[in-house]
Parts: sequence; structure tokens; C-alpha cells
Amino acid sequence: MANGDTPERILLVGFMASGKSSVGRELASRLGWAFEDFDTVIEARAGRSVSEIFTEDGEAEFRRLESGVAEELLVRTEVVLASGGGWPAQPGSWKMVTGNTMSVWLQVSPAEAVRRASQEGPLRPLLGGGDVTDRATALLLVREASYRRARYALDSEQYGPLELAGEVVKLMTESR
Ligand code: S3P
Repeated sequence: MANGDTPERILLVGFMASGKSSVGRELASRLGWAFEDFDTVIEARAGRSVSEIFTEDGEAEFRRLESGVAEELLVRTEVVLASGGGWPAQPGSWKMVTGNTMSVWLQVSPAEAVRRASQEGPLRPLLGGGDVTDRATALLLVREASYRRARYALDSEQYGPLELAGEVVKLMTESR
């Protein structure tokens, strides 16, 4: 996205439980835009939860479904998108981020992500097995470079959804 362009859509990326859905919903309501969460669309289409897809068909099949959904959503306009935590690190993902997409990385530490994820309910499939914080730390290390490709990075460790949504709106206006 070049400076001076008004974004047509906003893409939120970041680790599991980094606040993509809560910030996305708040932001969409402030902008009067739609909100779409990759995982929710995948689940609705498959008629199964993300965990069920992982358990029954494996991660590769989940990534295939995720890629199809991303490709469709990333051409919509006036929409705030929350990607899944693993999507930006899949080969070819960022090639889909074209045109006037404003991408934002919500940064959170592995420990905080694990704390939030365990409060939200059953742990995400990729955090199961072994020490959960160790798993999250290793995963984040592998993924960080892909999150860094986002145009903006915001601190989701200290700030909540309301403040972060406000910050994105501010960045939108400033970049005009
Ligand atoms: C994943 C994150 C999850 C979901 C799936 C895989 C990942 O999304 O897509 O469990 O690879 O980090 P959230 O980031 O919304 O938890």
C-alpha cells in the first residue's frame, strides 16, 4: 500500500490469542465495515471446528482450506480480516496481500498468548503436547519473520482491543 492511498481492507495478523478477532470486531464496527475471521469462515464451510479438521484430516488439509478462504476474503473491500495465527507463515500467503490492503501485526509474547488461549477454552491444536509455553515460544520464533512483513506492528501485550482499534484508525488517517 502506498502512502496516500485509502485502504480497501485491513488484515490483522499475529500469534494465536494476540487479539486479532476482538480488535477486528471493534475496528469493523468503528469503520462501519464487515468483519471476517478466517477460522470462522473455514468452520462454517466445513461444518466442523478447526480442532476437528486438524484431528480428522491433519494440518495440511486445514492449510488447504485456509488458503482458499484467504484468497476469497483478500479481494473483498471495506472489510476487516483476522487471519489465523499460522496463515502468514504458509508459503505464498503474502502474495495474496495485494492492492490497498493495510496489514497490521498484533504483537504478543508467547507467555501472554498461552495465558489468554487457556482462558479462552480448549487449547489450540498446535499448542498441545509438551510444555505449552515452550511450544508457543518455538512457534513464534519460526513465525516472527512472516508477521514482520505486515506494514504496521502494534503492541497487543499492554493495550486492549479498544485502544488498538483506535490506533489502527489513527494510522489509517495518518497514512492518507
Ligand atoms: C493456528 C492458529 C489458530 C487456527 C489454528 C492454527 C496456528 O488461529 O487457525 O488452530 O497455526 O497458529 P488463531 O490465531 O485465531 O488462534
